[in-house]
Amino acid sequence: MRFTALSILILATCMTADLTAQTASIPSIPGNLHPPIDSTWWKHAVVYEIYPRSFQDSNGDGIGDLNGITQRLDYLQALGVDAIWIAPMFPSPQVDFGYDVSNYEAIDPKYGTLADFDRLVAEAQKRSIRVLLDMVLNHTSDKHPWFVESASSRTNPKRNWYVWKDGKPGPDGKPLPPNNWVSLFGGSAWEYMPQTKQFYYHKFYKQQPDLNWRNPAVEKAVFGSMQFWLDRGVAGFRLDAVPTLFEDPRMRDEPAEGGTNAQGDPKLKDIYTNNLPEVHDVIRRMRAMVTKYPGDRVLIGETYLPNTAELDKWYGGAKRDELQLPMDMIIGFSNKLDADTFRNRILEVETQVHGSQPLIVFDNHDNVRSWDRYGDGVHNEAIAKLIAAMLFTTRSTALMYYGEELGMATTTPTRVEDVKDPIGITGWPKEKGRDGERTPMQWDASNPQASFSSNTSTWLPLPPNYKTVNVETELADPNSLLNWHKQLISMRRKRDSIRDGGIVMLDITNSNVLSYVRTAPPGHHNIVIALNMTAQPQSIALDLTTAGIKEKLMRTLLTNEPSLQGATSTSITLPPFATWIGEVQLP
Ligand code: NOJ
Repeated sequence: MRFTALSILILATCMTADLTAQTASIPSIPGNLHPPIDSTWWKHAVVYEIYPRSFQDSNGDGIGDLNGITQRLDYLQALGVDAIWIAPMFPSPQVDFGYDVSNYEAIDPKYGTLADFDRLVAEAQKRSIRVLLDMVLNHTSDKHPWFVESASSRTNPKRNWYVWKDGKPGPDGKPLPPNNWVSLFGGSAWEYMPQTKQFYYHKFYKQQPDLNWRNPAVEKAVFGSMQFWLDRGVAGFRLDAVPTLFEDPRMRDEPAEGGTNAQGDPKLKDIYTNNLPEVHDVIRRMRAMVTKYPGDRVLIGETYLPNTAELDKWYGGAKRDELQLPMDMIIGFSNKLDADTFRNRILEVETQVHGSQPLIVFDNHDNVRSWDRYGDGVHNEAIAKLIAAMLFTTRSTALMYYGEELGMATTTPTRVEDVKDPIGITGWPKEKGRDGERTPMQWDASNPQASFSSNTSTWLPLPPNYKTVNVETELADPNSLLNWHKQLISMRRKRDSIRDGGIVMLDITNSNVLSYVRTAPPGHHNIVIALNMTAQPQSIALDLTTAGIKEKLMRTLLTNEPSLQGATSTSITLPPFATWIGEVQLP
């Protein structure tokens, strides 16, 4: 098992609090028995993240594009996806593969045109798939005209759109950075510009200068660009790096934690550059702006946070007037297949976010795939099935990443000369970058590009396992991980209790098996889910009366284990890493 140093860095810096310190106080009914029924689309949605460079190349340049996504919409519809989140496809120098935006209101020619985008939205709509865009709010590219102007002189009207500061006098007359802040991508977070003799701040690459959100003109301009896309029919946004919008106005040094990170920088507690309270005012105004549009447009946040109490603030606490769906990275990135941890985390988001809607995510384009993070190298497929079962059968909105449904593995370059992600070049060999989780989608085995592209040279090579791990092969195998996803998603859509019911944890002292019941309104079937999180068989005897259910007769709905197909009660033995989903029979 391998984690990239960057993943660890992002998680560690954003989750400085101890993950294990926070255990849910178990409510008398451990769960949420009767949540209100709400048909708002994003509360039930399966959102599918597409990394546009890697999904489907339509013009043979070896890079994915918008028309490629359009070509594959039927696949997404058949999978049961409700919305796609497209990682940035705006014009960009592509230093950070799109997260360095040089124009928020256009499409990068590598990915297509605005007309292609409009066609994608229209075709998606025909298939009941909504389109969400990735708004990069914290920073722009250094090639964005705003920054070019800002950097041109100290008196330029856009000077105050970015974070500029005088340096400290250095011993040899050369200015030193204003303070000890470090970039998440390595080195000082300050870059000196000799023309105007000041430093600018960048949380990420130096080609990604941070916008100054204390300047109302920045908010106005960025909100304007969001409206540009809302007017074109997007269903909402994933907000990139949103906790880092503000910095301490006094620019104080961050306290040192001791030791160095993978980039060799001192480890700092990022209390002055991350999760500052001011950001919530911006988010409230953004929510109010987005709410004016019809159709329940949604704001999803990239929110790596230390605990559920912090997560709740991003919903707006009791007022629920901020993000509808801040990502809960605590559950999906706990990186340990542990029933107690998952149970406590799920309970926490059920009971400690003022009734807001949880959003669970296990995979994205920045982290080693869950296949490798949770897999033990022997039972990876069973473990992936178990994780998918958790993702789709709790009350959470589900966010998945392309290829997760196939069991695509993280394929990290083995030679530094093959690395594309800059952080993997500067950080080699400790930090190998994020290429491994961004390899092209594996569609079939008909050619070495797995039909991702007609070009024999693709921007990242296809992992060798494309011959067996691909859409076509898996569609033909009823027991494949892909068909498992389809079954789960379809169950989530069709079954009232999974769609709208409550969730009550069962057998809450069992550290090996996570089990819960999705409770149904009277006259509908309750559904029990049991997940063996160990490599040993586990016998369980679940007591449904704790959830107010008297009936005992069960019928298996879905399992990856033939021995459980005929189960008629909740007293069963789960083979290693087994998933069992059973329906309680009505009297
Ligand atoms: C988070 C994005 O997911 C990541 O890919 C990017 O490098 C940083 N934000 C900077 O935009």
